Amino acid sequence: MAKKPSTAAKTGGPAINIGISEKDRGAIAAGLSRLLADTYTLYLTTHNFHWNVTGPMFNTLHLMFMAQYTELWNAVDPVAERIRSLGHAAPGSYAQFSALASIKDAPATPPKALEMVRILVEGHEAVARTARAIFPLADKAADEPTADLLTQRLTVHEQTAWMLRSLLED
Ligand SMILES: [Fe+2]
Repeated sequence: MAKKPSTAAKTGGPAINIGISEKDRGAIAAGLSRLLADTYTLYLTTHNFHWNVTGPMFNTLHLMFMAQYTELWNAVDPVAERIRSLGHAAPGSYAQFSALASIKDAPATPPKALEMVRILVEGHEAVARTARAIFPLADKAADEPTADLLTQRLTVHEQTAWMLRSLLED
């Protein structure tokens, strides 16, 4: 008989024995779930701003935001699949994402172009903080695949924050 899908974060099936304790796998998966929620939320905000940006910088920002939301969209998959590899269910609903994310939803009324840029700088910095906070857990468990993923995400978020921040400087 087919098993019912588990509603708990932990998934069923044979025991996992990859050399990382169940406790450590749970803690890392919880951290990666927060990273997934933050990345998805920042993805949606960036796509929203691509649609709604106005003003003399329209073309620059419309295209810049497209490159950024495409990168973020591609980033959610490896994060979710790392959670699965650690034996946990990946969150994937708006309710779960809003409960887990450290960054707020986009404002209902589209802000001015430079305010959009400021919101995205703060978003990338927030995702970087979320990713960085997982490192001690990954290091402790010698979880190199997670550490590698975090390194890649930190590189992107810190570089994107710098590029966006530069638009706000004289
Ligand atoms: Fe578009």
